Amino acid sequence: MAFDLSCPGLIIGCIFASLARASNVSDVYPPLWKESPGQFSDYKIENGKYIINLWLYPERLGMYKILLNKTAKYFAKFSPENEQNILWGLPVHHGWQYQTGRLADPTQSTDCGQKPENHLCISVDSWWADLNYYLSAMPFLAAVDSGIMGISSDNVTFLPPPKDQMNFCYNVSGCHSSFPEAMRKWNEFYQHVKSHSSSFDDLLEYLWAAHVSSLKVARKNFHNRLKYYSKQEADFGRSWALFVDYLAPPLFPTTLIRTCEFQKELPTRMLMNEDRAPFISDFSGFQNTILFALSLLHNTSSKKLYPPLPNSGFEGGLFLQNFQILGLLVKNTEEIT
Ligand SMILES: *[C@@H]1O[C@H](CO)[C@@H](O)[C@H](O)[C@H]1NC(C)=O
Ligand SMILES: *[C@@H]1O[C@H](CO)[C@@H](O)[C@H](O)[C@H]1NC(C)=O
Ligand SMILES: *[C@@H]1O[C@H](CO)[C@@H](O)[C@H](O)[C@H]1NC(C)=O
Ligand SMILES: *[C@@H]1O[C@H](CO)[C@@H](O)[C@H](O)[C@H]1NC(C)=O
Ligand SMILES: *[C@@H]1O[C@H](CO)[C@@H](O)[C@H](O)[C@H]1NC(C)=O
Repeated sequence: MAFDLSCPGLIIGCIFASLARASNVSDVYPPLWKESPGQFSDYKIENGKYIINLWLYPERLGMYKILLNKTAKYFAKFSPENEQNILWGLPVHHGWQYQTGRLADPTQSTDCGQKPENHLCISVDSWWADLNYYLSAMPFLAAVDSGIMGISSDNVTFLPPPKDQMNFCYNVSGCHSSFPEAMRKWNEFYQHVKSHSSSFDDLLEYLWAAHVSSLKVARKNFHNRLKYYSKQEADFGRSWALFVDYLAPPLFPTTLIRTCEFQKELPTRMLMNEDRAPFISDFSGFQNTILFALSLLHNTSSKKLYPPLPNSGFEGGLFLQNFQILGLLVKNTEEIT
C-alpha cells in the first residue's frame, strides 16, 4: 500500500534536510582513521600472504582505508580528494558502530570491546560487527579479485573469529563458494568502477545491489544475535536493517560528507530498555525523530505478520495519525535546529 512507501520517503526527506544544513570536512573521518594501517605492507605476512585480523577495529578499518585508496583513481572524475567515492559509506558507518559501543561483546561474558582496556576488540557475538563483516570482507576480497588492489587473489587471508567460523569466509575462493551471489554482485560493481563509461548513478546502483545482497545473507545468518540486546536496541537493529533496503532504491549517495551527516542523526549510544523514542533526553530532536520513524516503518512493514486488529479502521487511521505526529515532529525539530 502507498503508506509503506511514504514513511521511508519521509525519513530520507529528513536526512536530506539535515544534509542541507551542515557540512564541515574536518571530523568526518571514522575514529582512528589516521592511525590505522593504510597499505598492505602494514600487515603481517605469512607464507607469502597478508594476514588481516578483521576482529580488531584498526585492522578492519585499515582494510577499508586500502580499499578507498586503491579505488580513488576511478572516482577522481567525480570530485577532488576522493570525496565522491561511494565506498566511504562503509568505513564511516563502521566508525559509528565502534564509537557507539556496538562492536563490543553484547553478552558481556568477555571484555571484548570494553573500554578502556580492550576497546579495539570486535566481538563475534556483536550483531552489528557480524553484519559489517559481510560488508567488509566481501567488498574487499571482490576488489582483490577484480584486480583493483594490485595483489593476487591468493595473497590475502583473514583470521577466523574465536567461534562460529563456519559463518564467515576468509579468502577470495572461500567467499565465492560460501556467498556466490553477493560476491558476484560485488565483482559486478568493480567491473563498472573500472569502466570509463560508468556514470555516478550507475555505480551507485551497482553498489547498492551488492550491499543489499551481502546484508540479505548476513541478516539471515545472524538474527539469533539480537537476543543479546535490550528490546529497544534489537528493534532498532531490525528496523535499521529493513530501512537500508528502502535506502537502496532511491540510491542514497554514500559519499564521505553525506554519509557522515546522516550518521549524526543515528543513536550516539546503545539503546536501553527504558529508552522511548521520541522522548530520549540525551538524544537530539532529530535523532529521536529518526528512531521513532524507523520503528514506525518497521511496524508498518511487518504488520502483515500480526493478526489483524479488531478495530477495522486501524490500519489507515492510526498509521495516518502517527504519520501526522511524525510530520509535526519533523517540523518542530527543524525550527529548533
Ligand atoms: C569546521 O570545524 C573546525 C573545527 O571543528 C573549525 O575550525 C572550522 O572553522 C569549521 N569550518 C567550517 C567551514 O565551518
Ligand atoms: C604473492 O603471490 C606471489 C605468487 O602469486 C608470490 O610470488 C608473492 O611472494 C606473494 N606474496 C606477497 C606478500 O606478495
Ligand atoms: C594511497 O596511499 C599511498 C601510500 O600510503 C599514498 O602515497 C597515496 O597518496 C594514497 N592515494 C590516495 C588517493 O589517497
Ligand atoms: C580459503 O579458505 C578456505 C576455508 O574457508 C580454505 O579451505 C582454502 O584452502 C583457502 N584457500 C586459499 C587459497 O588460501
Ligand atoms: C513498534 O512496535 C513495538 C513492539 O510492538 C512497540 O514497542 C513500538 O512502540 C512500536 N513503535 C511505534 C513507533 O509505534
